Amino acid sequence: MYNKGLSQSNFDALGDYIASLPEKKGALMPVLHKAQNLFGYLPKEVQLFICERLDVPTSKIYGVISFYSFFTMKQRGQYVINICMGTACFVRKADDVVKEFEKKLGIKVGETSKNMMYSLEALRCVGACGLAPVVMVNDKIYGHVEKKDVKKILAEQSN
Ligand code: FES
Repeated sequence: MYNKGLSQSNFDALGDYIASLPEKKGALMPVLHKAQNLFGYLPKEVQLFICERLDVPTSKIYGVISFYSFFTMKQRGQYVINICMGTACFVRKADDVVKEFEKKLGIKVGETSKNMMYSLEALRCVGACGLAPVVMVNDKIYGHVEKKDVKKILAEQSN
C-alpha cells in the first residue's frame, strides 16, 4: 500500500475510481484517501490530476491535505511508525520511545530512512489512551510500549 510510485497504472486506477463515483460533488475526501492508498502520498502531480477530474480548485485540495494530518505530501517509507504524543502517552514516557526509535533508525521524527523502509512520525491522541504509550506501524497498533520494546517492533516489520 506504500510507495507504489507515480506509475501510470496508479493514475489509471485513480481515474477509474473517480469515474465510478455516482456523484463527484463532495467526493474529495474519499478520492484523497483512495489516492493516498494507491500512491502512498499526495504530491503535486496527483493533486493536479484530482483537481482536473473532480473540477475543484487546487487551493481547496491543498487546504484539505494540509488540514488533516493523515494526508501527506511527502513520500513515506514502507513502514510508517507513528508514536502518539498525546497527554496520556506523553506522561507515560512516549518521548523515551521516540528517542529509542530515532536512535535505532538513525532518523528524526518527520524523516524517512534513505532506503525508504521507515518513516517516523508523531501523532496527537489516537483515542486509545488506555493503551498508552501507543505506537502505530501502518495500521497495526502496539500498546503499553516501552523503550525496550522498540527493537522487537522493528524486527517484526522485517519478517
Ligand atoms: S494520548 Fe495517546 S492514545 Fe490518547
